Amino acid sequence: MPQWLKNAVFYQIYPQSFYDTNADGIGDLQGIIAKLDYIQELGCNALWINPCFESPFHDAGYDVSDYRKIAPRYGTNEDARNLFAEAHKRGMRVLFDLVAGHTSIEHEWFIESMKTEKNAFSERYIWAGTPWERFEGIGGITGSLNGFSERGACAVNFFSTQPALNYGFAKPDPALSWQIPADSPAARASCGAMIEIMRFWLDMGCDGFRVDMAGSLIKGDEGQKETIRFWQGIRKMMDKEYPEAALLSEWGDPERALEAGFHMDFVLHFGPSYYLDLFHEKPFFSAASGGKIARFMENYIRIDTKVRAGKGGYICIPSGNHDMPRIARRLNVPEIKMAFAFLLSMPGIPFIYYGDEIGMKYRENIPSIEGGFERTGARTPMQWDSTLNAGFSSAKPEDLYISIDPDKNKPTVEAQKSRPISLWHEVRKLISLRMEHEVLQSDAPIEILHLKPNKCPLVYRRGEGKEAITIAFNPSSKEMSVSISGSGVPKILYTLGSAAFVQNGVLKLPGGSCVFLRFSLE
Ligand code: NOJ
Repeated sequence: MPQWLKNAVFYQIYPQSFYDTNADGIGDLQGIIAKLDYIQELGCNALWINPCFESPFHDAGYDVSDYRKIAPRYGTNEDARNLFAEAHKRGMRVLFDLVAGHTSIEHEWFIESMKTEKNAFSERYIWAGTPWERFEGIGGITGSLNGFSERGACAVNFFSTQPALNYGFAKPDPALSWQIPADSPAARASCGAMIEIMRFWLDMGCDGFRVDMAGSLIKGDEGQKETIRFWQGIRKMMDKEYPEAALLSEWGDPERALEAGFHMDFVLHFGPSYYLDLFHEKPFFSAASGGKIARFMENYIRIDTKVRAGKGGYICIPSGNHDMPRIARRLNVPEIKMAFAFLLSMPGIPFIYYGDEIGMKYRENIPSIEGGFERTGARTPMQWDSTLNAGFSSAKPEDLYISIDPDKNKPTVEAQKSRPISLWHEVRKLISLRMEHEVLQSDAPIEILHLKPNKCPLVYRRGEGKEAITIAFNPSSKEMSVSISGSGVPKILYTLGSAAFVQNGVLKLPGGSCVFLRFSLE
């Protein structure tokens, strides 16, 4: 396990929208380099950058046409090399986004694969039947590309511009010759090609990958056993050749993903984790929604216990990401502060989506850009200051990749840095508290002290013995009391909202408050 994951706090960057240094209206790698000091000042020590490889951008770069080339709009491979070096100088790590399940229709593998003459890429994709046939429902394939080639219909992984790479089938039907086994030479060649791409960037200084749709690779894989075996093989290679590099999956099912050898997996808006109960649909941290956290926490503890007893690895809670509405859609600023107190005091590895640290808005119903559709509202340019385009770019406003939030009172980094009670300062304070206390970091155990199906508060303890810290949240509007163990007068390490206090073994939590306590244990 790479040691740096023990206290990692990630910052996710959507490169299009972070910072534009060449006035073309779109963010770039030089822009990320220019803002590394900012990210460091906030306290994050690792980055995940959404895909920045050459692409026709039918899905914002998740349709790669050349895995070894930075898309010119973001810069050059030399810029990537500099980004890794500049990040390392600051003790920071950088994960790139590896789209392993599919390519763009413009990738040369696909162009070769379409040809009727047999070649090295004929089986790099899944072709079957006639150009008219549909794949829906076969082996987890989500659709088909029709009318592209005499070879037949081609299996798709996501949008119709994203043909699925062929890693084989878990249980190929012997009557269907196009269903090749996962251990066949052609399926292994797809795997080998992906490994070569990983080596290419790791050798340049990249610190690992977030793997897109990691659970989708092997088709017809009920229970995902073959897909798990596939990634275990990749992890073996990583442990041997790049032991300090990290693998993070977009699987949304940490139980399986960590078993598969990923160092980290997310709880997400899909999958079995109840993530949406936290900050999104009917969020626990909103006083108005009165949402419940019990099923999220129970599930979390179950997986956490299993993972600790097994191979290890980290469950990652994100504040949001480029695929879902922002945290500020359902929570107001005091509630977002409390949500961050949770995010930054849980085990595993927290992920902060760019702009959530200042409470950037989710922009409802804006025009879709590059296959974003309703996700576009969570991908708007970072709001740095009160200058042109909120300091994101000096291009003409009409030339921006996505328009800036027109709200005059929109949050900016500059304004929030100048106000000590701002969300930005709160997030910074919470990260620094996590960095100061090992028991708040990735590995320290968690124990639930109070969790009732329909009631606040939520109380848990991180760590054991002398170092333990008790953390309590009452997002409701009413005062709550809970009896609490521990001797002596506790030291308050952190508080939000009206002051909580302990009296005769009872913790009184005013409505909308949160507290981190340490009991002196002689
Ligand atoms: C998940 C990515 O996060 C999303 O943005 C993308 O559209 C799909 N995978 C397809 O690659």
